[in-house]
Amino acid sequence: MADFHLSFLALFILPISFILFLKLIVRPHPIKIPIKSRHVLITGGSSGIGLALARQAAAEGARVTILARDLNKLEEAKNSIQLSTGVEVDIVSADVCDFEAVKEAVKSVGPIDVLVCNQGVFVAQEIVNQEMKDIRSMINVNFIGTVNLVKAALPGMKNRSDRKPVSIAFMLSQAGQVLRVEGLFEPDKTDG
Ligand SMILES: NC(=O)c1ccc[n+]([C@@H]2O[C@H](COP(=O)([O-])OP(=O)(O)OC[C@H]3O[C@@H](n4cnc5c(N)ncnc54)[C@H](OP(=O)(O)O)[C@@H]3O)[C@@H](O)[C@H]2O)c1
Repeated sequence: MADFHLSFLALFILPISFILFLKLIVRPHPIKIPIKSRHVLITGGSSGIGLALARQAAAEGARVTILARDLNKLEEAKNSIQLSTGVEVDIVSADVCDFEAVKEAVKSVGPIDVLVCNQGVFVAQEIVNQEMKDIRSMINVNFIGTVNLVKAALPGMKNRSDRKPVSIAFMLSQAGQVLRVEGLFEPDKTDG
């Protein structure tokens, strides 16, 4: 009988306890971030994916702010969201590459619950054909811009007094995973 208890412990209790212990210590834990009545700031929210996300978040009851550079495009986006959802979103103009402007914009929009770093530019060319100015611009907008946003918004997001979960999302592109150098990875056309 004692043997049976020992085997039961070794076969079931110990592995299950170990898995529960791992679940407790392994981070990050997946958590659901409620957005209803919460403030969602979406960068690059005046067009494309950002605009679609802003429309969806507004329709789900979030308080939405969209950030981009061009005020006219922001106004157009605001109007189109209002037309389709009946919800009025806030707009703020800033260049994400300019840390001081980002800091000012983040301060002006008030406490943020969810930050979606969605702004991005992409020159659809192989790296050997890209101009250095375009490469620098992509790094500045996509990477440094995102660093600026997180650096400006994170302190306020961490110090929220309501203790509700907050979240930062990053929009990326599969382009970073694709390496296609002309000629190098082309299928061998001599093999029929
Ligand atoms: N479209 C795709 O097929 C695709 C695929 C994979 C990933 N993505 C990623 O998804 C994100 C959105 O793509 P999209 O195609 O929807 O973009 P998009 O329609 O070209 O919109 C880009 C947005 O970013 C803003 N923006 C650009 N430079 C900025 C800057 N310096 N400061 C602040 N805002 C700036 C633009 O507004 P202003 O010009 O007025 O600033 C605009 O609102 C990007 O990160 C992109 O890499 C897109």
